Amino acid sequence: MNSLTILGLETSCDETAAAVVRGFPPGPGAILSNVVFSQTEAHAPYGGVVPEIASRAHLEILDGLIARALKDAAIKLADVDAVAATAGPGLIGGVMVGLTTAKALALSQAKPLIAVNHLAGHALTARLTHGVDFPFLLLLVSGGHCQLLAAAGPEQYRLYGTTMDDAVGEAFDKTAKILGLPYPGGPNVEAHAARGNPRAYSLPRPLLGRAGMDFSFSGLKTAVRQLAAQDEIDVDDACASFQAAAIDILCDRTARALARFRDDFPDAARPTLVVAGGVAANAAIGAALAELAESHGFEIRVPPPRYCTDNAAMIAWAGLERFALGRRDPLEFSPKARWPLDRSDDDGDRGSRQNGA
Ligand code: KG4
Ligand code: ZN
Repeated sequence: MNSLTILGLETSCDETAAAVVRGFPPGPGAILSNVVFSQTEAHAPYGGVVPEIASRAHLEILDGLIARALKDAAIKLADVDAVAATAGPGLIGGVMVGLTTAKALALSQAKPLIAVNHLAGHALTARLTHGVDFPFLLLLVSGGHCQLLAAAGPEQYRLYGTTMDDAVGEAFDKTAKILGLPYPGGPNVEAHAARGNPRAYSLPRPLLGRAGMDFSFSGLKTAVRQLAAQDEIDVDDACASFQAAAIDILCDRTARALARFRDDFPDAARPTLVVAGGVAANAAIGAALAELAESHGFEIRVPPPRYCTDNAAMIAWAGLERFALGRRDPLEFSPKARWPLDRSDDDGDRGSRQNGA
């Protein structure tokens, strides 16, 4: 099997990233380089990602990151088979920076352009890192997304459930802000939660036990705000109680999806649950999901945290999967603020993250 070498670019939110990946489906692939510049510091004073600041920062550093990624991989641009870039969904200004840069590189080297759906990047990461075969069940949990999907091929996804309001990472970020913890909230809330009592405060678990596989986190966030308005709350206990509620919600919805996946794919001998997105870096959530998957006879695969948060290796790999299918995209390809993986999902993805709680 011929191995393919792809340069990938990611600029859809607050990470600017370039990577070179080599391999062939189903993977695993070799990550020849993976350069990520996080703009966290630039956005921290605002408690969330500011689109204008993000696009300017992408524009300023992307060229340098691409040069670094090629140098780290010890290859020249002329050596890649194609240039892949996130074409959506995400903050449109940032997406435009990455996609336009990819178009310019592709044109200058007469290389094919591959437009990548950022969500497909997250979805296919477990093939890059672990060579997971189709079909698999995906729980995608990040700052912008909270979805359960069955992945049957690089371009075949069936949406099981999505969030009706906030994404789970967004709930972590807002909880952190309410409790006065620095941005980004996820890792800080997790660190405090490890020292707290998860039963200290009773918080709601929206949709728990209900039919369907959708998520809702806004009621939980409101409850955290009400809790924080009280005198002398213990931040560690508040984080632990919030995280316990988030875990219960994720496990309840995922348990239903595991059962549904078995019905939809009865022939999958060793079905796999893949957890991807920035929130997959949370060890407590990972442990709870691992236990759940095992009790349902599923394997669980969680890519290493640096490939779970936004990065360009996943974009290069998703581009590689499309390239291997013979896909090529025109230089006229338009960036998309919204681009559901599953066509029937009209409003499952939040194209942007806004400031504020
Ligand atoms: O995938 P990602 O880097 O960007 C998006 O596409 O959204 O995910 C970032 C999100 C943020 O909301 C961040 O707070 C959350 O992932 N996150 C975590 C942890 N690490 C990152 N949430 C909970 N626990 C963590 N350890
Ligand atoms: Zn992402």
